[in-house]
Amino acid sequence: MVSEFVEGWTIAQTLGEGAFGEVKLLINRHTGEAVAMKIVDLEKHPDAANSIRKETCILRMLTDPHIIKFYGQRREGNLEYIFLEYAAGGELFDRIEPDVGMSAWEAQKYFKQLVAGVEYLHGRGIAHRDLKPENLLLDEQDNLKITDFGMATLYRMKGKERPLEKRCGTLPYVAPEVLLRPYNAEPADIWSCGVILVAMLAGELPWDKPTPDCPEFRDWKAAKPSELTPVKKRQCSGLDLSPLEGTSNHEDISVAARLCSSQPEPCPPTAIVLEKQDQVPSFSFSQPAHLEDLLLSSQFHCTQQQPSSSQNTYQKLVRRMTRFFVKTNHEETLKELCGVLEKFGYSWKMNVAGVLTIGTVDKRKMKLVFKANLLEMGEHILLDFRLSKGCGIEFKKLFVKLKESLDSVIVKGPISWPIAIATNSVP
Ligand code: ADE
Repeated sequence: MVSEFVEGWTIAQTLGEGAFGEVKLLINRHTGEAVAMKIVDLEKHPDAANSIRKETCILRMLTDPHIIKFYGQRREGNLEYIFLEYAAGGELFDRIEPDVGMSAWEAQKYFKQLVAGVEYLHGRGIAHRDLKPENLLLDEQDNLKITDFGMATLYRMKGKERPLEKRCGTLPYVAPEVLLRPYNAEPADIWSCGVILVAMLAGELPWDKPTPDCPEFRDWKAAKPSELTPVKKRQCSGLDLSPLEGTSNHEDISVAARLCSSQPEPCPPTAIVLEKQDQVPSFSFSQPAHLEDLLLSSQFHCTQQQPSSSQNTYQKLVRRMTRFFVKTNHEETLKELCGVLEKFGYSWKMNVAGVLTIGTVDKRKMKLVFKANLLEMGEHILLDFRLSKGCGIEFKKLFVKLKESLDSVIVKGPISWPIAIATNSVP
C-alpha cells in the first residue's frame, strides 16, 4: 500500500484529485517532513503543460501566510511533479456542513484570512480566478491557504492594468461580468470571496450561476435591500462546478511566457547549501533539508520556502469529514457499501483494488463522481470518500446519506486512527 517515491520519501496517501491529476502526501521517513506532490501526466493531459508552466511561474513569485508555498518541480518522462506545502487541515469545504455552514466566528476568521490572501495576490497584480472552498486549504493551525493557481494570471505589470478576457472559474462562484467579458480582475475575485462567505454561513450556494435565466440570481438582483433575507432558504441542487471552458486564452499564455522569462534562472545545484534538519534556519535561501532528494538537479528551482517539519507528522494527517471507520472486514465492507450504492441507484466500478469510483447525477442532473477508498488501518477499515467531479456541497449531502445508511457498521466513539496510520504506513 505504501510506496517510496525517492529514497527516504514515502507516498503516504492521496490527498485529492485535480483536473489534471492527483495530489499525494509525501513523508520523509527520517525527519517526518510532509510535502504535497501534485502529479500531472502530460501524455494524458497535453493541454496541462501551459497551465502548469503558468501556475508554477506564478506560485514561485508568492510568499504569504495565506498562499500555499511552492517548493519546486521535477519532470520525469511524461510526468510532471509539483511540490507544495502540505496543508494538514484539508479543504475548507470539509468544514462546511451542508445546509448549516459553520459558526459565524469561524466563517469570519476564514473570511478575514481569505481576504488577506487575495489582497496579497492583487497587490502583486495576480488574479486567482477560481476561488472556491475546494481551493482553500487549512494547515495544522487551522490557517487558510489559497491553492490551485492553474487559472491565475498576471493582470497588472509595472502599474499598468489590463482587462481580462478568458472566461474561467466555477459557475456558482464566478462574477456575472466574467461571463460577459472583458472584466476587471480584482472585483471578479472579490465576488467569488462573497459567494464563499455565503457557502460558509449557510452551507449552500446562493445560485447555480449569475445569469438572468437563474431564478435565484434574478430574484436577488431584483430585490430591494429590505427584501434581502440573510440567505434564501432553498435546496442547493446540482450545480455545475466544473471549470468553465476557456474560449480565449492566448492573452494569458503570452503573459505567462513573459512572466516566466522574467523569472530568475534556476539555481545551479552547486548553489544549494544543505542544512541538517536541526540546523535549518527559520528563513533560508537554501533548499530545505531533505527536499533536495525530490528535485532533479538539472531542473532545480530556487525557492525561499521550507516544508513544515513536524515532530510527528502521522498525528497530523488530513482531518477529513468525509470518512469513517467501520467494524466490518474488507469483504463485508465492500458488500455493505455496494448494497447501499445499489439502493441509491449509483453506478460504480473498481479499477484499483480497494478503490471504488462511484458515479451519479445530482438534483440538477449534473455529474457527480467520487471515490470510496477502503484503507486497512490496523484494527479497522477506514472508509474514505473523496470528490472527483461535481459540486462539493452536493457531494457532502450525498456523503451524509451514505453514512446514515451505513450506520450499523460504523465504529462509534473515539479512535486513535493516526496511530493506526503510523503503524501501517511506515515500512
Ligand atoms: N490537497 C491538494 N493540495 C493539498 C495540499 N497542498 N495539502 C493538503 N491537501 C491538499
